[in-house]
Amino acid sequence: MAKKKKTTLRIIPQNWLDPYNFKADFPHPEYPLEVDIGSGKGRFLAARSAKFPEINFLGIERQLIRINSSGRRCERAGRENVRLFRMEGFYAISRMMPSDYVSNYYFFFPDPWPKARHENNRLFNPAFMDALHRTLIDGGGLHIATDHLPYFEEIHALLKSDDARFEEIEAFQPDDEERTDFELIFSHKEIGRCSFRKI
Ligand SMILES: C[S@@+](CC[C@H](N)C(=O)[O-])C[C@H]1O[C@@H](n2cnc3c(N)ncnc32)[C@H](O)[C@@H]1O
Repeated sequence: MAKKKKTTLRIIPQNWLDPYNFKADFPHPEYPLEVDIGSGKGRFLAARSAKFPEINFLGIERQLIRINSSGRRCERAGRENVRLFRMEGFYAISRMMPSDYVSNYYFFFPDPWPKARHENNRLFNPAFMDALHRTLIDGGGLHIATDHLPYFEEIHALLKSDDARFEEIEAFQPDDEERTDFELIFSHKEIGRCSFRKI
């Protein structure tokens, strides 16, 4: 069987311990940066980057197979404003993302870790909120969608209680092309959505 091609859109830093200038890997580093965490197969990245060619989009995803498939999808579509970073999301944001840097973060269907003994694996916790706040520009946004309503309530409550740093705004609604693979899978279910901005 022919081996599938690796993506050329993947960012591989030389140094994994310090903040990394992700913008420098795009043809237009001066454009704002938006980040999709757990970007999966890249349906949102491919659609959104076509709609906003003057925004740079970074997908952060820990599964290599998904990095490669979203990369091939964006390459085929000729996107210059998409790059992909294979890394665990908490580490990527807390250790490697520069401060005052990101205009919008998107979290679509983050893994809910439904078993009680696994809840500590969830991405959203107070330390992650600190990292998001540090790396967002003033007025920058956080956009969350999930079919797992208990996890949605937990994230929403965490953000709502952090009202000195974040304020709730109208929830982001994707258009049809921007709906992610998991959103299409769960289209029969109620989806929790919320958006906040850094004050
Ligand atoms: C349920 S899927 C959703 C994928 C995509 N956002 C969608 O809506 O179709 C969750 C994705 O997040 C990735 N993921 C989960 N936890 C992660 C983490 N801590 N850091 C980076 N990626 C993560 C998984 O590998 C998977 O691709």
